[in-house]
Amino acid sequence: MSLSKEFFWGGATAANQYEGGCFEAGRGLAVSDIKTAGSMTTPRRMTFLNEQGKPIIQNKENKVPQGYKGAIHEGVYYPSHTATDFYHHYKEDIAYMAEMGFNCYRMSISWTRIFPNGDDVEPIEAGLKFYDDVFDECLKHGIAPMVTINHFEMPLHLANEYDGWLNRKTINYFLRYCEVIFQRYKGKVKHWLTFNEINILRDYSSLGIHDLTAEKHYQAFHHIFLASAKAVILGHAIDPENKIGMMLAHIASYSETCDPKNVALELEVSRKFKYFFSDVQCRGYYPSYMIKYLERQNISLVKEADDEQILCNGTVDYIGFSYYNSGVASLRKDAELAYGNQVRVARNPFLEESDWGWQIDPIGLGISLNSLWDRYQMPLCIVENGLGAYDEVTQDGKIHDEYRIDYLRKHIHELKRVVEEDGVELMGYTPWGWIDLVSAGTGEMKKRYGFVYVDMDDEGNGSKKRYRKDSFYWYQKVIQSNGEEL
Ligand code: BG6
Repeated sequence: MSLSKEFFWGGATAANQYEGGCFEAGRGLAVSDIKTAGSMTTPRRMTFLNEQGKPIIQNKENKVPQGYKGAIHEGVYYPSHTATDFYHHYKEDIAYMAEMGFNCYRMSISWTRIFPNGDDVEPIEAGLKFYDDVFDECLKHGIAPMVTINHFEMPLHLANEYDGWLNRKTINYFLRYCEVIFQRYKGKVKHWLTFNEINILRDYSSLGIHDLTAEKHYQAFHHIFLASAKAVILGHAIDPENKIGMMLAHIASYSETCDPKNVALELEVSRKFKYFFSDVQCRGYYPSYMIKYLERQNISLVKEADDEQILCNGTVDYIGFSYYNSGVASLRKDAELAYGNQVRVARNPFLEESDWGWQIDPIGLGISLNSLWDRYQMPLCIVENGLGAYDEVTQDGKIHDEYRIDYLRKHIHELKRVVEEDGVELMGYTPWGWIDLVSAGTGEMKKRYGFVYVDMDDEGNGSKKRYRKDSFYWYQKVIQSNGEEL
């Protein structure tokens, strides 16, 4: 048996895609709450009022002009507002997790449920109580919560009034939130992740910054690195038992050819978009290649005297990462692009792809595990992996999702192989969207990842009734056998 008895088997979700209850118990709006639904070919959009108070809707990727304030427009459907309604179904849903045999549940806390504006002095008791109830219910079933402190979340007020992560004050507001949750959930939550997929936070919806430029982007990252490091220091001080990790989107990348120029390009891309982030958070300092790159770009970051010390003292305890697909670095300007987790990469002719065009590559998971382990020698946790696919419900309420089982089976086989053959230290596996939820990339419902089906469509219609898919029973056996029966 290659996996330890303590191996975390579970599933993952995020508040803005699953929780709903957007207007319950004094919760404030987050930037994710002004995002519309989209599709694979139509980007999600965001809604604003301009300086004259006129409603404006624009693409997520576009720059948001100064003076625009994120706002909800009448008659527009926003998928995060009810999502798949964990808020009102948490007992039922945790019972499903328990039935499958989860011993871990990765979820995120909604910042604005605790501090509705982000800069409030006092937290909201009802919000804190909601997560108390959730954690108590999990613990009752022997499920350890693993909490992402910030999963694609920014209080709308901080974006509107402070320019989000561009403003150094945001660090203090974030720390106030961290302190409250570390204190409150001490003893209930031991595993934390600071920022979800830190390396792909890149637009208004995740950073809350108007008129985003490269310089502002790196300044925001500097603030986020500090916020994460300070959270680690604080979390350890409040409870030395806390294990606080980083979270990286790990897209394994390959050079398209053996042309050394192509190999050099792959290295450059991997460092700039991936390892820069884990280098800072695991080693505690900016890597030289990035310092030099920023110099060449004439980007000089505004730093304070003790920033370096904070980064050095606030290194993480483990690396959580998401893995869905690999990508190809190509020198060709006309390379055909495949879709993928948040970024588009050149298509790999050796791989099959999902209904949404993401290329399926289980071996890439093994390569990712080995690359991260070799580079940092730090415990790893696969906190997201899975297949977004169309599901069909049969007349008798069954969902035969053999394609999902096939995807997961191959990935679990690979993770076991590298633990066994290479001795990689792997803490656990929490596949994404263990229950159907709203897609982050497209805002759709029909892109489903779950073991549990939720009756809801792309416009939010449906009973929200839950159904066990075939993969539910399959994963249950995988967990029971500690990964031996695939
Ligand atoms: C990651 C995110 O990018 O991938 C999740 O951490 C997201 O929030 C997941 O849902 C899958 O992406 P998508 O676009 O299929 O929802």
